[in-house]
Amino acid sequence: MKAEEIFVYYAPELKTVEDELLAIFDSATVLIPIIGKHIINGGGKRIRPLFLLMASDLCGYRGKDRALFGAIIEAIHTASLLHDDVIDEAETRRGKTSAHKIWGNHVVVLVGDYLYSNSLRLAVSKQNQKIMETLSEATTRMTEGEILQLNKTGDPSITLDDYYKIISAKTGILISAACRIGAVLAGQTDEVEKALAEFGLKTGIAFQLADDILDYIALQDDLGKKLGKDLEEGKITMPMIHLLKVAPSAEKLEVIKIIEETAGSGCTKITAAKRKANLKRITSLFVKYNAIEESFEIARGLVEEAKSKLSLLPDSDSKRAILAMADYTLQRRK
Ligand code: IPE
Ligand code: IPE
Ligand code: MG
Ligand code: MG
Repeated sequence: MKAEEIFVYYAPELKTVEDELLAIFDSATVLIPIIGKHIINGGGKRIRPLFLLMASDLCGYRGKDRALFGAIIEAIHTASLLHDDVIDEAETRRGKTSAHKIWGNHVVVLVGDYLYSNSLRLAVSKQNQKIMETLSEATTRMTEGEILQLNKTGDPSITLDDYYKIISAKTGILISAACRIGAVLAGQTDEVEKALAEFGLKTGIAFQLADDILDYIALQDDLGKKLGKDLEEGKITMPMIHLLKVAPSAEKLEVIKIIEETAGSGCTKITAAKRKANLKRITSLFVKYNAIEESFEIARGLVEEAKSKLSLLPDSDSKRAILAMADYTLQRRK
């Protein structure tokens, strides 16, 4: 089954999710829908609501609440992007100027807060305790992930364990929540619910790992955000962790110097040309030490682990679809 076919199959229901999403941004405070439309209309893959729909199909629920919860999950993701772009000082998101570059940090942070709270308020109205626990845990852990990441900014001694903690929390947990909610809506057993949650978590970790690889190798127009940002921000991700592990000491010292320089943690700011040269040098070392392929290999392993979590469920079209989307997290170019 191809990812494109799956997107086409779910397109009508994703349209309903879109309408629910717009409703979450609806407010008499005009800047909220204005900023909301700016970021929603920028596109976005809607992968999280898609996982929720697929998980609920797999578990046997086709009722209307799944579109609402899909929108709630996407709104939480959108809030995290608004905040993330302020923190990362990102200039581009989804191929457009980032919201904070147009409206300023203050209002964009507050719109993010509004989205988090309005999403949870709407979820509460459905009076499903388990879903509320899932969503509130997800938002809490996502924030912890971003804070832990800040803590590790520009730190070349970051461990693999730290890295996994960060990406599980900031990205894995929300995809896990999306999949788990599908099982909860279907009234599945605790065992199935746990399997879906674990499937989503591993898939989500692989998804972020792929994002961290794409930051170095994607085409900017595909990705809709600036390349090489992670190095600039001092975000040390899997390819860099691999490089720091395998490079001999002279090159390792060179890499550490580049990280410090490029992330601006040194006393002096470097020029744009120097930053570009640093990125080029790092990418050439990635080639020399096979960092991209090794990172993909680890991500592939995670996707296989994710898929194995669903082995307790019988084969079906829905199962083939959700497994294919787990593979898609690594095939994507954007
Ligand atoms: C971007 O998420 C942030 C990460 C967690 C990697 P997506 O890659 O899902 O972004 P959109 O929603 O499609 O723009
Ligand atoms: C993912 O981190 C952001 C969130 C989960 C909010 P990144 O900082 O890598 O995401 P991009 O690359 O800006 O989309
Ligand atoms: Mg970012
Ligand atoms: Mg990124």
